[in-house]
Amino acid sequence: MKNKLKFICNKDEIGTFVHPGLSLMDFLRNNLALTGTKEGCREGDCGACTVLIGELQGKQVQYHSVNSCLFPVGDVNGKHVVTVEGLNDGGLSVVQKAFVDEGASQCGFCTPGFIVSLTGYFISNKVYSAIDAAYSMDGNICRCTGHSSIIRAAKRSTEILASNITNHSDHILSLIKGGLIPSYFSEIPSRLKIIKQQQIDESEKNISSYFISGGTDLFVQKWEDILNNDIKLLSSNGLSSSIKEENGKCIIGANATVTDLINSPIISKIFPSLGEQLKLFGSLPIRNMATIGGNIINASPIADMTNIFLALNSTLRLKRENKFREIPLRDFYKGYKSIDLLDGELIDEISFRIPKEGSYFNFEKVSQRTFLDIASANSSIYIELDNSIITNCSLSAGGVAPIPLYLKQTSEFLSGKELNYSSISEAATITLTEISPISDARGSAEYKSILLRQLIYAHFIKLFPDKINIKEIA
Ligand SMILES: Cc1cc2nc3c(=O)[nH]c(=O)nc-3n(C[C@H](O)[C@H](O)[C@H](O)COP(=O)(O)OP(=O)(O)OC[C@H]3O[C@@H](n4cnc5c(N)ncnc54)[C@H](O)[C@@H]3O)c2cc1C
Ligand code: FES
Ligand code: FES
Repeated sequence: MKNKLKFICNKDEIGTFVHPGLSLMDFLRNNLALTGTKEGCREGDCGACTVLIGELQGKQVQYHSVNSCLFPVGDVNGKHVVTVEGLNDGGLSVVQKAFVDEGASQCGFCTPGFIVSLTGYFISNKVYSAIDAAYSMDGNICRCTGHSSIIRAAKRSTEILASNITNHSDHILSLIKGGLIPSYFSEIPSRLKIIKQQQIDESEKNISSYFISGGTDLFVQKWEDILNNDIKLLSSNGLSSSIKEENGKCIIGANATVTDLINSPIISKIFPSLGEQLKLFGSLPIRNMATIGGNIINASPIADMTNIFLALNSTLRLKRENKFREIPLRDFYKGYKSIDLLDGELIDEISFRIPKEGSYFNFEKVSQRTFLDIASANSSIYIELDNSIITNCSLSAGGVAPIPLYLKQTSEFLSGKELNYSSISEAATITLTEISPISDARGSAEYKSILLRQLIYAHFIKLFPDKINIKEIA
């Protein structure tokens, strides 16, 4: 028998025996008749299906946005789902009114998704800026109104809420008083606590054909197939998402999301600019869902996280039942979408040695459009320097081979060389012998080779502006 899922959707408590791999979007629209959540692309690209997921953490509920078309309903067990229907109690909320006042909606198809994303921004932050508010909608696309009026609506909402809310000591209460959300939000923490207590013995223990983490790859590729199989939801089954520092290593639970990396104080301390660079990964809802484990297993040659962890010479800890083994990420990929993973084996953790003082790291990504796009090519570099001698260098490249590529020969060549234009130029020539790009929708093979060479130059220009002159390279 399937387990009963229990959660709160807007004000209402929901209990259901549906397949846990059904998409939340289908459940909301077909089972609850909440058709304000729209079906657009079903691929995480348009944001029309955006909803908020609230999870009890201590005494408070933390909310984040997700694309409900890629989110398994089983993962809302014990949580609060907020759709556009749950954002007002009769009158318009501050955000909805700002959309009306700025003429930010024409056909209205995209509008619920924008409203939910923007409301999510004001719920999950305490300091507001119009620019950040606009960025919170980076996963939403409007095809008819034009984005300028929507950005004005975000600015207007920011100004109204910043002046309405001066005291955040009880954040949710201030948001209710400020006209952002309805009053039932204040009861959600105590209601979720009761649901959680009732669920203690009901955790899923199913045998699986599909392991699902964030679902952002699987639901795009196989959403119908998932419904005919047993699944195991990794985020509800004890796979860790913690990011910790231990014995000189940074250890990341495979279930950590891109947002977890961006928000981690440990990651910001080690790589101060990585958080900003990771904002080039998908959109906010995708970053909230996409896990490191899923990125590595999906084995896409252009996967961004994998590219970064390759340059950091990371190690995977794999787990099957109670047995563990370790493997360097650089040895994990055997061919196109072929990986060294046994049946039923999971990535449990990924770790890398914390870089030495005075070392350097950079990540570069070029895609056809800046945001919400996968890379045409990407590259990461880790480099240690002693005066002007490169003592250690690791370079990775994506989009130029059947696998996420560690540039072994280029890295070996650079280690021990003087940091100057001639070493970099020679290294870029060696790189071209290590890659085998193909022509596809993201560009011709020749274009990708040139792009990668430019990305290698970009690493050095960005990291060593005093030593490597852009004019010398041009
Ligand atoms: C709109 C959109 C934009 C995107 N943008 C980017 C981007 O900019 N850069 C990028 O790199 N990717 C991007 N992606 C791809 C995707 O988001 C990432 O690859 C993501 O990290 C996958 O993680 P997930 O948790 O969603 O994986 P899932 O879809 O849950 O799983 C993917 C695969 O990994 C397996 N799996 C998951 N976790 C584990 C584990 N711990 N152990 C063993 N197997 C596991 C699953 O069984 C499945 O086979 C995008 C996807 C979409 C839909
Ligand atoms: S329907 Fe387009 S992102 Fe979900
Ligand atoms: S208002 Fe029509 S798609 Fe945005």
